Amino acid sequence: MPSILVTGASRGMGLEWARHCGERGWRVYATCRDPFEAGELRRLDEKIDTVSLHKLDVTDPAQVATLTRTLPNAGIDVLLHNAGVWHDWDPTLRVGKLQFDAWEETWQVNVLGVARVTDALLEQVARSDLRLVVGITSEMGCVSNITSPGSYAYRASKAALNAMLHGMSHELRRRNVGVLLLHPGWVRTKIGGESAALSTAEAVSGMLERIEGFTMEQTGKLLDYRGRELKW
Ligand SMILES: NC(=O)c1ccc[n+]([C@@H]2O[C@H](COP(=O)([O-])OP(=O)(O)OC[C@H]3O[C@@H](n4cnc5c(N)ncnc54)[C@H](OP(=O)(O)O)[C@@H]3O)[C@@H](O)[C@H]2O)c1
Repeated sequence: MPSILVTGASRGMGLEWARHCGERGWRVYATCRDPFEAGELRRLDEKIDTVSLHKLDVTDPAQVATLTRTLPNAGIDVLLHNAGVWHDWDPTLRVGKLQFDAWEETWQVNVLGVARVTDALLEQVARSDLRLVVGITSEMGCVSNITSPGSYAYRASKAALNAMLHGMSHELRRRNVGVLLLHPGWVRTKIGGESAALSTAEAVSGMLERIEGFTMEQTGKLLDYRGRELKW
């Protein structure tokens, strides 16, 4: 069975990735910032043998290094960058009122966190069978989709994530490592809110189909959870 490392597995879609893949018998390295607070994930870890829980704040280089050292030497088939923050959702946050602490954290989690964890774990991905790096992005980061003001930090961070992973796909292709950018749809989580269209199970099962059907011809592409290719 394949293995997957999930960032931000404490709740929302990250927790669903851990549950979904764990129930299918995948080896799941479920990471979260605070295992003590992540009650549902702890219960999953107790219930499913192939799920293990690891502490990881993706903004902390020391924690990334510790995780890299403590993971078993086996490969990681799918490195899934799910952790993300959207601090500037408030539509009244316009130019003149921008909050730069929130910008800083958005950048640290949504962009640098992905770069840092990929950099640290690439060798483990490269020696697995599936060899796939997946970034959970958002269509909010597609410039072609930006038709109204607001959410500048979040949109910019997801656009940067797209550019970064698309760029890396050209390098990693030479090592036979694939890269996929996935937009989950609008999903009922803390980020998506209660009125969102999709459950976490619907979004994750759609995205998992994209992962299971991945071929190297798709490397560097941006797909939504149904497999539709999105314009940058
Ligand atoms: N929901 C949607 O409609 C939607 C749409 C498009 C894209 N997305 C993307 O989907 C991904 C998952 O979001 P979600 O909707 O499931 O939201 P969520 O419920 O708010 O989950 C976000 C996760 O990220 C974790 N996280 C935040 N900062 C972190 C850090 N520094 N290190 C490690 N983990 C960190 C959170 O952990 P804590 O519990 O420790 O805070 C939480 O587990 C995000 O990348 C988001 O941008 C969501």
